[in-house]
Amino acid sequence: MFELVNPEIGFTSSVIRDPRRFVGRADLIQSCMNALNANEGLIAVYGKRGVGKSSLLRQIQQMANGNYDIAQKAGLAHLMPKQPRRYYTVYYACDSNIANTDDLVRRLCNDTDPEDGLLRLVPDQGKKLVEFSRSDEASVGMDLKLVQWGAKGSDVQKYGSVVPNDVVQSFRNFVSGALDANNRVWTKRDALLLLLDEFDVIRNKDGLGSLIKSLTSPTVKFGVCGIGQDLGALISDHKSVARLIEQGAIYVKPMSPNETREIFATAEVLFKGKIKFDRKVVDQIVDLSEGFPYFAQLIGKSSVQYGNEVGTNDIDAKIFGEVLDKIRSGKSFPNLEDQYQLAIGNSKERAMLLVLLAEQQSEATLYNEDIGNVVLQKTRSTAQGLGIEYVDQLMPRLVEERYGPALVKHGDRRGVYDFADPVFRAYVRLRKLD
Ligand SMILES: Nc1ncnc2c1ncn2[C@@H]1O[C@H](COP(=O)(O)OP(=O)(O)OP(=O)(O)O)[C@@H](O)[C@H]1O
Ligand SMILES: [Mg+2]
Repeated sequence: MFELVNPEIGFTSSVIRDPRRFVGRADLIQSCMNALNANEGLIAVYGKRGVGKSSLLRQIQQMANGNYDIAQKAGLAHLMPKQPRRYYTVYYACDSNIANTDDLVRRLCNDTDPEDGLLRLVPDQGKKLVEFSRSDEASVGMDLKLVQWGAKGSDVQKYGSVVPNDVVQSFRNFVSGALDANNRVWTKRDALLLLLDEFDVIRNKDGLGSLIKSLTSPTVKFGVCGIGQDLGALISDHKSVARLIEQGAIYVKPMSPNETREIFATAEVLFKGKIKFDRKVVDQIVDLSEGFPYFAQLIGKSSVQYGNEVGTNDIDAKIFGEVLDKIRSGKSFPNLEDQYQLAIGNSKERAMLLVLLAEQQSEATLYNEDIGNVVLQKTRSTAQGLGIEYVDQLMPRLVEERYGPALVKHGDRRGVYDFADPVFRAYVRLRKLD
């Protein structure tokens, strides 16, 4: 019998914190486990937009807290260290207002987030912390959460270890003081872990590598995470930290078809069996999402939603066909649709050109499933055949920052581009021309 079901129970477009929702990635989990348990070193998580980096970073945080459910689930129980290293953790997501190292350090020193901020771990009189678990199971993986600021509140300037007008030294003091001070009160941890997400958006990273290097020790570990095809893109002065990263370079690839399938198996469990996805439908979604879990989650969610609208919990080929029609007409994913409209800017021809580019098969994909650049030249004659005459006049909007951009230049090779967002590329392929 039909039952109205909340799509969010099984699918999510947010970063995944709960290990039970996290699928696949066994090889990466293993690398993360090793990197966490190495005495010293820097963890660097990188890969394309929307591929699942932040979710992996949150799982690293879970393991750092001592919650190894995710490793168990990935079948890695036998590789788990007997006494895994335990950390107090800090998690900070950077944004594009952070121009340089000083900005970042200032932000970290002033982050008052009660569960993830650095300031919560800095000793101060009267401050109250409690142990808490980041998972539903209350007893596994404890970190510290702030319940009350000290006598002087959260004004960082009043902390004892602040050095006036020297934010970097204050940061050093905060980082080096946090472990010992908390270890006096709580069950002992081995180290402090600072996770910096969206690291790629920091415009000028000069000096960051060497700051990280100088602070890294057996009691302080950093993990950085962001968009990038290689380590160099993520950490500009990566040479200074090369030795530290040896073990901790974690490249997040698009998911394999089986991993994407598992998103649906997991969702069915989370829905407690109330929702059924036809096997063929799942295969189709696997193809459409091209290994990007974000797209798979979105399609899953809108299928359940559509099922609610028409009164079924069975997502079979017929229902899914209707779901697809809706997506293809631009009615299902407002964010992607806005991106699409912004990029094409009322031009039918530009929309056609964009589709042709999105559909291009690059030769590189034969050797490396991951490089998906497009070559304008290859599309030119097809475009002309379709009556699109002024290709060069249509292109600028597609690469201009304020219209997305949909495409970015690929290195210095002329006429070669990458889709800035691979999920957007997948959407363009699916989208029907108006
Ligand atoms: N292991 C996973 N299992 C299931 N779903 C996942 C997994 N990893 C990521 N997702 C889903 O994919 C989407 C993107 O995940 P996430 O935000 O972690 O990616 P990201 O690489 O950090 O993206 P961005 O480049 O935008 O920061 C989310 O909807 C998330 O729920
Ligand atoms: Mg992210």
